[in-house]
Amino acid sequence: MSNLSVISGKPSEDLAKCLAKRIKANLVKSEIRIFPDGESKITLVGKLSKKKSIVVQSIYPPVDTNLLHALSLISKAKEASSQVIAVIPYMGYARQDREFLPGEVITMKVLAKLFQSSGASKIIVVDIHSLIGLKYFSIKTKNVTAIPDLVEYFKNLSLKNPIVISPDQGGKDRAKQFADKFESEWIALEKKRDRKTGKVKIKTKDIDEIIGRDVILVDDMISTGGSIIEATQFLKKQKCNQVYVACTHALLMNGAEKKIKKAGVTRIVSANTIPNKTSVVDVSKTIAKAIE
Ligand code: R5P
Repeated sequence: MSNLSVISGKPSEDLAKCLAKRIKANLVKSEIRIFPDGESKITLVGKLSKKKSIVVQSIYPPVDTNLLHALSLISKAKEASSQVIAVIPYMGYARQDREFLPGEVITMKVLAKLFQSSGASKIIVVDIHSLIGLKYFSIKTKNVTAIPDLVEYFKNLSLKNPIVISPDQGGKDRAKQFADKFESEWIALEKKRDRKTGKVKIKTKDIDEIIGRDVILVDDMISTGGSIIEATQFLKKQKCNQVYVACTHALLMNGAEKKIKKAGVTRIVSANTIPNKTSVVDVSKTIAKAIE
């Protein structure tokens, strides 16, 4: 048996399988049974390495359930293996990394304590919303990026004089990183979010450098699609050509995909941190490098 096990949580089965193959680890699946009262019974199928186990589980909806499952898998792995690495490709709650309004709980602080006490000695995440979320951990942390993998995908498309655009100033570095690898220009729009309603508005005034050009909107995640829809409507008014979206985590809540397409987006391309129709970019190679 390999001295490395990859434990695949239900939300990340394909990614875990690709990762196990790449790092030549023994793949251990998990089975979940839900009792009538809503409790989960989690069972690992297979033998774990005594040396090192890697738990792979994204924390997307149902977020609280998947969080508890991830912690349970880590805890079980720690009973058998002396080292447990938690690979959380999509880290739910990462946007709750500071107190925006008085009284708000910084949930990332709570998560940091939970991961540590469950037995993880290192945590690997992919394009976490902000690195601030990782500063609450006292175990080793590593954030890897899906941007080079997303860029490779876009290099194979024939785009018309493309320009990379971030829907907000917070995503400036991400857009620049994408554009540098893609060898194109980039700009960042000005977005304002109402902290109470969550509604977003684009504040940028007219920009003429996008007229007739294809646009790649780059973001870390799409949740309701509000940011992408507002940005697309603005860019279309500015007379750009096609709008493509490149994002790491496509949550696509409440029919967001349909709404985004209706706003005029030609294609949404996302990573397999969240498996769905748009997740055509595999990040297992990038995660494997962070493990080695
Ligand atoms: C915000 O700062 C993030 O980078 C995303 O733009 C945002 O979380 C996406 O959420 P939604 O799709 O609901 O606008």
